[in-house]
Amino acid sequence: MEINFESLKAQVRDFTADTADEIEAFRVAWLGKKGKLRDASAQMKSVAPESRKSFGQQLNALKAEVNEKIEGLKNALAEAGGDKSAGEDLTRPSGQEPLGSRHPVSLVRREIEDIFKRIGFSVAEGPEIEDDRHNFSALNFPPEHPARDMQDTFFIEKNPDIALRTHTSSVQVRVMESQKPPIRIIAPGRVYRNEAVSSRSHCIFHQVEGLYIDKGVTFADLKQTIAYFAEAFFGKTEIRMRPSYFPFTEPSAEVDVYWGLENETDYRITKGTGWLEIMGCGMVDPNVLEASGIDPEVYSGYAFGMGIERIAMNRFNIGDIRLLFENDVRFLNSFKGAW
Ligand code: DAH
Repeated sequence: MEINFESLKAQVRDFTADTADEIEAFRVAWLGKKGKLRDASAQMKSVAPESRKSFGQQLNALKAEVNEKIEGLKNALAEAGGDKSAGEDLTRPSGQEPLGSRHPVSLVRREIEDIFKRIGFSVAEGPEIEDDRHNFSALNFPPEHPARDMQDTFFIEKNPDIALRTHTSSVQVRVMESQKPPIRIIAPGRVYRNEAVSSRSHCIFHQVEGLYIDKGVTFADLKQTIAYFAEAFFGKTEIRMRPSYFPFTEPSAEVDVYWGLENETDYRITKGTGWLEIMGCGMVDPNVLEASGIDPEVYSGYAFGMGIERIAMNRFNIGDIRLLFENDVRFLNSFKGAW
């Protein structure tokens, strides 16, 4: 028997329902054990072999349409305030709430976590309200040192020893104080900076910190780990390291991946250089190890830190950072299913 997919689709499209029971009956009639889709797939055997592929595709499209219809009817019912046939029976199950989506910053954070977990890193966390020791002094920022000005800090008015953490490097100190090497952690989290007021600057953003400490850790280990990450996350195999300065690492570097220059977007995001900066890193300064009770004569380590927003903008081709903070559901809904 020929199946008229168009007329079946029209039946699905034209169906309406006002109650949860009607939707359920529709679901059973189409997707149930004796439902219409079962009937249709039973016909597959009698279809000529050369038409089977297109038959299968039409069947799948029909099934998707049925599922979409059911989802749409349920959402419409929930939005209209639930099943009116439920009357005053408050013990009935509620209508289904439309599902949200994960925020792009969370998607990227999870992906970074997964990549490092695969090579033995575990996830560490620390407080967002920090003291001077964990945010600065144990990380080799002496008092009054100009490097503190690199990070515009929100202090608590009544107690200049307490601040909102300016970076997730503070978690390094917390972990080193409480664990013995070997230490292999990444620390994702929210950080705060008192940026000059402009619509493009943001006082809250997210970073991921990495720390590895053991006997005999070298710069070569650092480079290899970052090359692994660049390939796993960006699919890029070429990286370069530029000398840089951070108080807590010596030597320090900034890492770029070779992104390429194939189209206009590549030009925009790499400022015409083909290289994209992805993180800061370096060998943990012996002063930092010592400040947390780890003997720098015995142990060495590397650290790295990266900003999640920039990476998320890049990953999802988001042109304006403000989109990440406005939480406009139309924007967020475009990430549905991306996890
Ligand atoms: N804490 C730095 C920042 O906020 C990022 C960073 C750079 C972290 C180098 C590190 C590192 O661990 O080694 O800009």
